[in-house]
Amino acid sequence: MVRMMLNGVEQEFDGDGETPLLWYLRDELGLTGTKYGCGIGACGACTVHVDGNPTFACLTTVSMLEGSQVTTIEGLSKNGDHPVQVAWRDLNVAQCGYCQAGQIMQAASLVDQSDTVTDEDIDTAMNGNLCRCGTYPRIRAAIKQAAEAS
Ligand code: FES
Ligand code: FES
Repeated sequence: MVRMMLNGVEQEFDGDGETPLLWYLRDELGLTGTKYGCGIGACGACTVHVDGNPTFACLTTVSMLEGSQVTTIEGLSKNGDHPVQVAWRDLNVAQCGYCQAGQIMQAASLVDQSDTVTDEDIDTAMNGNLCRCGTYPRIRAAIKQAAEAS
């Protein structure tokens, strides 16, 4: 049995502890905002927060999460009003959208943990989150707006 807090609600998992968090979220809990891109830690589409830190759900087994606080895109804010989400809408960041939940979770962690965000901070934090549509300039602008607003 693995117990964790997921989006503020206690969850008990009694299946195979080697199950990737990504599949637990999507297949068992129906939280499909977290996307499967590569499954090998190479794209960032599956980024969630574990104890506030951005984490790839495809590389994280459920057994690693005993006592952890897990947040997915569905739980990032109650009304979609995290400063990063607001900036994303203001600047129409998304194109196809597939990578965007992961981008937002990565960016939210950066904005939440830093008072000031430099280009170098953005480059470092967002390096593992790929976007096939090339929305990188809007992502960068939105992170700066969110940092100023938070
Ligand atoms: S699906 Fe997890 S990093 Fe690509
Ligand atoms: S918006 Fe299409 S992959 Fe990023």
